[in-house]
Amino acid sequence: MESNSTGISHPPNSVNFAPRLACRSRRGGVRSGIPSGSPPAGKSVPLDIGRRPGWPASAPGGRQPTDPRGWPPNPGANRFHPWSRRPPMERDDVPAAAGVLESFSLDGDAVLVTGGAGGIGAAYAEACAEAGGDVMLADIDADGAESTAAELAEAAGADVRAVACDVTDEDDVRDAVDATVDAFGGLDVTFANAGIGRLFDPVHSQDLEHWREVMAVNLDGVFLTTRESAAAMRADEGGRIVTTASVLGLVGTETPGLSAYVASKGGVVQFTRQAAVELGPDIRVNAIAPGWVHTGIGGGMMREDAPGMEPVQEQMRQETALGRLGYPADLKGLALFLASPASAYCTGAVYRNDGGYTTT
Ligand SMILES: NC(=O)c1ccc[n+]([C@@H]2O[C@H](COP(=O)([O-])OP(=O)(O)OC[C@H]3O[C@@H](n4cnc5c(N)ncnc54)[C@H](O)[C@@H]3O)[C@@H](O)[C@H]2O)c1
Repeated sequence: MESNSTGISHPPNSVNFAPRLACRSRRGGVRSGIPSGSPPAGKSVPLDIGRRPGWPASAPGGRQPTDPRGWPPNPGANRFHPWSRRPPMERDDVPAAAGVLESFSLDGDAVLVTGGAGGIGAAYAEACAEAGGDVMLADIDADGAESTAAELAEAAGADVRAVACDVTDEDDVRDAVDATVDAFGGLDVTFANAGIGRLFDPVHSQDLEHWREVMAVNLDGVFLTTRESAAAMRADEGGRIVTTASVLGLVGTETPGLSAYVASKGGVVQFTRQAAVELGPDIRVNAIAPGWVHTGIGGGMMREDAPGMEPVQEQMRQETALGRLGYPADLKGLALFLASPASAYCTGAVYRNDGGYTTT
């Protein structure tokens, strides 16, 4: 093992941390760390650990010869798809290595949050605005998005705007991405967050229209938001996409009538993993899986004072190790981590933020 100036050990052939690469922010300034994409020209040295000169990018059968140094095959050189863009590894900087707090900065980054008018989406937006990002709130509730944008802009002193968008509509989603690029000069971070969840009937009497309604927003919406964002990010420097799944994408629940919701969130979890594989390395894709959170979802059933929901929420509370339900602000830290260069080595992962609900 070798040590860099910080005294932290790194394996041989790994990054030389000093001097750090600087990268451009959208406001024209320079900051440390690599949010995404390739470092500035001339600053990176290919670390080609998995492909020797003369090896084909993809050998017959998708297999590579074994590297005589014992290195594992470089998955980037072992592509099943001829259109894969995954290049050999680069000697990129590691943003958190030289200044961890700085690596959480979104200074000058353009952020899109679907479902940003309230609840969890507004908390994500607040976190990004506080960290220096320019934020676009896209929501089917256009008035709500406008007023939340105005509040956040004033509180955080940031550029926060709103656009009307139904995430089930392809044109709307494309327009929301375009509006973000037009407003801020690009797109660095997207939260595919808009979702609905209602208590319907149990499985044996679940109505197909209700099922489709939930799937359209929670799963189609995340797909469309990811697809359109990825197209914009790939045309630029790459970016970060964060989906909102749910603990109910990972486990079932005693609360009946949520089969469509649970299935949609399970779909978000798997879609996130696959998107990370297909969009890497220039776009990272991760999911946040919140536990039970006090928001307006489900016609207000998760509000603290929701009529008739006290016994249900008490049951949820009992099942949560930290002894309380969550508030949207509880999600800000994880949201910023995944949106920022601090999570530069994280992709395809599902992060539970659930007060320990899924530990029981
Ligand atoms: N509250 C919870 O307990 C909880 C738990 C786990 C996951 N989640 C997920 O968090 C995300 C945010 O939900 P929330 O709890 O903040 O609820 P919320 O109702 O407070 O916020 C959801 C937002 O999405 C918007 N929206 C709904 N349909 C839309 C559409 N078709 N197009 C665009 N925007 C639309 C709503 O107008 C609203 O502003 C959802 O994906 C939800 O499934 C919530």
